[in-house]
Amino acid sequence: MILTTGGAGFIGSNFVLDWFTASDESMVNLDKLTYAGNMENLAGLRDQPKHIFVKGDIGDVGLVRRLLEQHKPRAVVNFAAESHVDRSIHGPGEFIQTNIVGTFHLLEAVREYWNGLPEQDKAAFRFLHVSTDEVYGSLGKDDPAFRETNRYEPNSPYSASKAASDHLVRAYHHTYGLPVLTTNCSNNYGPYHFPEKLIPLCIQNALGGKPLPIYGDGQQIRDWLYVKDHCSAIRRVLEAGTVGEVYNVGGWNEKANLEVVGTLCDILDDLSPRADGQSYRTQITFVTDRPGHDRRYAIDATRLERELGWKPAETFETGIRKTVRWYLDNQAWAHNVTSGAYREWVGKQYGA
Ligand code: NAD
Ligand code: TYD
Repeated sequence: MILTTGGAGFIGSNFVLDWFTASDESMVNLDKLTYAGNMENLAGLRDQPKHIFVKGDIGDVGLVRRLLEQHKPRAVVNFAAESHVDRSIHGPGEFIQTNIVGTFHLLEAVREYWNGLPEQDKAAFRFLHVSTDEVYGSLGKDDPAFRETNRYEPNSPYSASKAASDHLVRAYHHTYGLPVLTTNCSNNYGPYHFPEKLIPLCIQNALGGKPLPIYGDGQQIRDWLYVKDHCSAIRRVLEAGTVGEVYNVGGWNEKANLEVVGTLCDILDDLSPRADGQSYRTQITFVTDRPGHDRRYAIDATRLERELGWKPAETFETGIRKTVRWYLDNQAWAHNVTSGAYREWVGKQYGA
């Protein structure tokens, strides 16, 4: 059995759903159900007795201790985090609390549990920490893509908090011998992406006849990976990664934000044309830039490909089309997750 944290969020829920198609191993899924966590993401597992959902905080040492003792997992996969850069700019407190303090408490509970395991189980145990490429900072136009050896230069409260959690995970291996693995992945997109991040926000706004907000000049570059490919990378690292090592995960898909939103508009023009015959591109609107906005991220995933034989299954072109199709087919989901709290956020971030 494995213990997953944050498995009701975007990437975590995709990981949990994929887990039960690829494996018959049980899973405890610990999630606090913040605004970003949604049980509707896991609706497909209602009749899956091997999925045990527990609502709770990774920082609740007593609860985590009990779950570990009761279920005796062979691995912990840590997705739980506050993950939205813009929210971290408005209010960094929760990011410090969950991403740093929460990860620390989780590591402490896991270390205690791991220390008590019989030697064979101790050697086989893994703590996999899911992190981001944003810890490496921002690249210039001609800089090589991030490698695992790049210096940490986080620029937002979000990336700084993730960087701190990565350092704690590293230290728990170096100091206590805890068998950890860390993955640093580029921007994900795909099903169950909460509609306040760029891609789902623009799909929903396009369909709702609202502006598609582009920060600054829209020439910031992100390296997009289809979420199912991130999940397959995590499974592979969990299975065969070298203890104590870091693996960068990415799909070699660098795109400027304006190009991404333009592509979304073209696919929507094709799959769900506007009633007035105009392109969704007419809804693109330039808005004030994000403070401290990182200009470019790009991942060099050579190590993961060479050492563990992982490759993404989707190109950006195939993945983005699947994603738009998914949102068109799942409008009820999108409406249900955009609660009052979501509307409050949109009002705060974009004004009237
Ligand atoms: P998300 O915000 O969609 O989901 C986070 C989940 O964690 C939610 O279900 C939330 O309820 C839960 N959670 C938050 N605080 C918690 C706490 N204290 N205890 C237990 N659960 C808690 O995030 P995501 O996009 O799915 O990202 C998952 C992980 O992957 C994060 O660690 C993030 O840093 C990392 N990551 C994300 C991306 C991306 O593009 N989204 C890219 C690389 C890495
Ligand atoms: P986001 O999805 O928030 O991911 P991250 O900031 O973690 O990379 O944003 C992706 C890019 O899109 C980022 O450069 C900011 C930009 N962006 C916009 O231009 N407009 C928006 O409304 C949002 C949410 C993001």
